Amino acid sequence: MKFALITAILLSTIGVAQAASAEKGQALVEKANCASCHGAGLNAPILPAYPKLAGQYSDYLYYALRAYQVGGSNAQFGRNNAVMSSQVQAFSDADLHDIAAYISKLPGNFVVKK
Ligand code: HEC
Repeated sequence: MKFALITAILLSTIGVAQAASAEKGQALVEKANCASCHGAGLNAPILPAYPKLAGQYSDYLYYALRAYQVGGSNAQFGRNNAVMSSQVQAFSDADLHDIAAYISKLPGNFVVKK
């Protein structure tokens, strides 16, 4: 509950700062069919090596997507994964913010271990 509240506050702050649109993000995610690998609700990956995305922090998602875009050309920042790099090349920076905003609002079942 506390987590959900803090997340909501964080997201609304980020949303205002960057004017990211979860609605646009949803359309982009559906068009690109991200669910074909990340599963229903982006929360049920088809293989264990494919990460769950739903409910992840928007900032994290954005930087991950940017890193796949940059790829191995920047060893300090890029993520060198052939599958995901090809998924994100066509998106603008604003698109990535929108996608991250949308995915972060999906109900996920990440577990916090104590
Ligand atoms: C063909 C299968 C496939 C498709 C389609 C796909 N992904 Fe992925 N995605 C992967 C795999 C595999 C990884 C793990 C890559 C790695 O090891 O870095 C991944 C990783 C990610 C990550 C990083 C997650 C983390 O916790 O670091 C994000 C974010 C992501 N995908 C978003 C998307 C979005 C948004 C789309 C649609 C535009 C998409 N993916 C489409 C297979 C796919």
